[in-house]
This record gives sequence, structure tokens and C-alpha cells, in this order.
Amino acid sequence: MQQTAKRTRVVDVLNTDNIGQTLTVKGWVRFFRQNRFLLLNDGSTIHNIQVVVDYESFDEALIKKLTTGAAVSATGQVVESQGSGQAVEILAETLELLGEAHPDQVQTTILQPKAHTLETLREQAHLRFRTNTFGAVFRIRHALAFAVHQYFNERGYYNLHTPIITASDAEGAGEMFQVTTLSLDAPPRTEEGGIDYGEDFFGKETSLTVSGQLEAELAAMALGQVYTFGPTFRAENSNTSRHLAEFWMIEPEVAFNDLRDNMDLGENFLKDCVKYATDHCADDLAFLHEREAKAESQLPKAQRNEMPLLARLAFVVNNEFERLTYTEAIDVLRNSKPYKKNKFEYPIEWGLDLHSEHERYLVEKHFMKPVILVDYPAAIKAFYMRLNDPDEQGRETVAAMDILFPGVGEIMGGSQREERLDVLQQRCAAFDIPAKEMDWYLDTRRFGTAVHAGFGLGFERLMMFVTGMTNIRDVIPFPRAPKSAEF
Ligand code: 4AD
Ligand code: MG
Repeated sequence: MQQTAKRTRVVDVLNTDNIGQTLTVKGWVRFFRQNRFLLLNDGSTIHNIQVVVDYESFDEALIKKLTTGAAVSATGQVVESQGSGQAVEILAETLELLGEAHPDQVQTTILQPKAHTLETLREQAHLRFRTNTFGAVFRIRHALAFAVHQYFNERGYYNLHTPIITASDAEGAGEMFQVTTLSLDAPPRTEEGGIDYGEDFFGKETSLTVSGQLEAELAAMALGQVYTFGPTFRAENSNTSRHLAEFWMIEPEVAFNDLRDNMDLGENFLKDCVKYATDHCADDLAFLHEREAKAESQLPKAQRNEMPLLARLAFVVNNEFERLTYTEAIDVLRNSKPYKKNKFEYPIEWGLDLHSEHERYLVEKHFMKPVILVDYPAAIKAFYMRLNDPDEQGRETVAAMDILFPGVGEIMGGSQREERLDVLQQRCAAFDIPAKEMDWYLDTRRFGTAVHAGFGLGFERLMMFVTGMTNIRDVIPFPRAPKSAEF
């Protein structure tokens, strides 16, 4: 068997003192300038390693194949770079072509080294990992996922794996993808003519989960504090830049926490994640910061961010979030300039849900910082949220909280849970949820019920904020959205 040289990752070549050593790097060709400077990237960092090729010492046929996209192994001495732009470079002693990338074929792909639109990159999601932008995005995605686990692990939370296939609609929004092995052409029928789900794989109607919360509540009422971090599916037909049909959600659930504890946890957790990224992803964030600045310089001033990316991240870490009730927010909105000038598309009235334009006004124009809104009208929130005492006007609200972020809108949604059995049963009835199907959930309120609370953080919404990417499809490797499930 041929012995292949052990490779050193480019990030380690660049960040440790290797001058004078002979090392092997393996990566993909970004450019080959003047048949002399071979820029290789291996994904370990946004930076390339420059391999200096004395072309007279190599086979001409090999030199010709060192084209953009090809996979190459290069061995040679690490020396201080003569040119500017990099501290060290490798003087190639041996070069091996591991995998060709034919220029004619590369030309029709995004591997071709020129500026491509994000839309074009999305059409070749299998290749976009090779670009600087998506290399940075997905390295940051890893770092943030790690930060999430570290945050909860350090604070004594248990990671809970909740089911992906479920028989309950946790959010009660009816936006579920059905899971079935029944024939769609000729499903078995009941005597009444409906589909006989008794014959289906699970003997009942099942779907992909919209949230792991209800299961997490059961575990929290025994383990004390748990969190989930898993894929979540919503069949809402919203083709927006902030919605995916398949996204990842982090849902902590904590026994004995009330709404205030929940807000404190949510704010602290978000700040910690953002800080982790700024501490650990400096090179990638610097790249995305520059990228955004360049893109925004082409935009009219009104469409630019008030603060550049790195300043936005620092601002969130260093400032208290604004906390107010839904009722107070409605007052702010009804007294706002855009409301008075009829600039909002959707009406603003107590009892109606806030739209993205309203949330963005509060965060980006009025308070100019992240906002935590609490105590929403009971009728527009989920059945499990704790019913507050009616307000002075007799209106019913629940102990809900949404955290709104600049550029992203709702990044987190949560609540204190209804722990009183009788009230919860009434709420189930009000939402037409058959109590019998929810017995497993209601049981937690029968056996040692306690105050508890939790929230869901949309991982891709967090990614949008941290990377500054403005379309949610650009922060998940393989986006799923209405009419779109490529790769
Ligand atoms: O507000 P949501 O629907 O809350 C829940 O699912 C609760 N069970 C959470 C809990 O209390 N444990 O969703 C939570 C978050 C939203 O704030 C948003 O960030 C994200 O999930 N989200 C989406 N992200 C991408 N695409 C979608 N279609 C999303 N829907 C919700
Ligand atoms: Mg929500």
C-alpha cells in the first residue's frame, strides 16, 4: 500500500510556528496565479495557504491540471512569505493531483472564481460550501451549535432527545407534515368513509414534530432542567426570508422558573451565544463584516444597517434588552409616526397579532435594541401558556414572551406554562384540543405539578443575526421551503 503523507490542516500551518519544517497540506485550488502561486483552501479556515510552485521542476501536464476546484496534495518547506498578504507559504517539493476539476465544467458552476449572487449559490448548494461566504457561515454554525450545548451543560441542564415523529400538534397551529405508510392512491377506509389510520404504521395519525416542548415539559418535571436541540418541521406556506419548512430549534424547559426567570435565561443565553461566536470566530466574522459593508455600500442609505455587523454583535452582548408588555407595545405602535401616517400594512389593535413590520419598528426604530415582549392576548397564543389574571379592562392575557432582534424579528418565543390542571383543561377545551389525547401531558399537572417555563430559539434565526445573512436559506446547509427540496 502506498504511504500517503500525513496532512497538516491549513489553519495549523498558518497559526503555529512551522518555519523550516516540511509539511503536507491537502485542499482545493482557489486560484493558480501566474503558474506559480497556488492558493489552496481546506475548509479549516477562511484563509488560503499559498504554495509556491517552481513550474520548471514539475511535469507540464500536472501543472496544467492545477485548476480552480481541483483537489491537490502539496508537500514542501514552510518559509516566511516574500509577498504581502500572507505570513508564510510552502515551497512545493512534491505535488499530487488528487481529483481533477475540468475547467470547461467548472465554468458552468459557482466554483468559477468570480462574484456570484446568493441566489445562484443556492441553486448549487452542494458546491457553495467551497465559497468564502459559506465556508464562514458553516464554521460559525458549528461554533454556535457547540456554544448552545456548552451553555446548558455548564449550567446543569440535560440534553433531551425528543421524538421527530409525533401524534400531537404542540403549537396547535395545524401546520404539520403528515407521516404515513398508507397508500395515497387507495388508503384503507373506515365504515364512515374516512381514512382508517388504525391501519397506518403507528395505528394512528402521525406527523413530523413542530416542537419538542410538550415532551420536554414531562422530562423537566423530573430532571429539573432540560433542553432539546433538534430538527423541527412546519408546513406553513410562508415563502419568506425568515421561514423554513425544516429548521432547528433549541428548547430549554425549567421546573420552578417563572416568566421573569425565563426572560433572564433567554437574554443571558442569547448574549452568551453571540459572545461565543465573537470570541471564537473572529476571522470568519471579520470576513462577513467586510462582505456586508461592501454589499451595503451599493444600497440606498435607508436600507443599510444602522450599525455594521461586528458593532451589532457587541451591542447585543453589552446592552440590556428592553422589556415591555404587549399592551404597552400596542400603545407605542399606535403613537408612532408610521402608524399616524398610515405606513403600516397591517392594522394595530389590541388583540391582533403583531406583524414583522411592527416588530421591526419597535426594535429597529423605536427602542433600537433587542426587545422582550410579554403578556400577549390569550386568544393569539398557544393553549399551554399560563393564563394571567385579567387586566383592569377584563382582557385575558397569557404569560408569553417573544424576543425580537434587529434584522430578524422574532428570534425566540416562550412562556411560563399553565401548571393548574383545571385551567389547562379549560384552555384545551377552548382550543378544541381533545383532552383525552392530551392525557399524557395533563398527567404532569396531576402528579406534583409545579411552576415551570421554557422557550424555543430558532437556530437559523440566531445564525442570521450572528452572520448578518439576510435570507434564512443561506444559513442552513440544505434549505427546505415551499416547492424547494433540492439535494
Ligand atoms: O414561537 P414558536 O412557534 O414556539 C414554539 O414552538 C414553542 N414550543 C417554544 C417553546 O416555548 N418551547 O417557535 C420558536 C422559535 C421562533 O421564535 C423562531 O425563532 C423559530 O422558532 N421558528 C422558525 N424558524 C425558522 N422557520 C420557521 N418556519 C420557524 N417557525 C418558528
Ligand atoms: Mg412564536
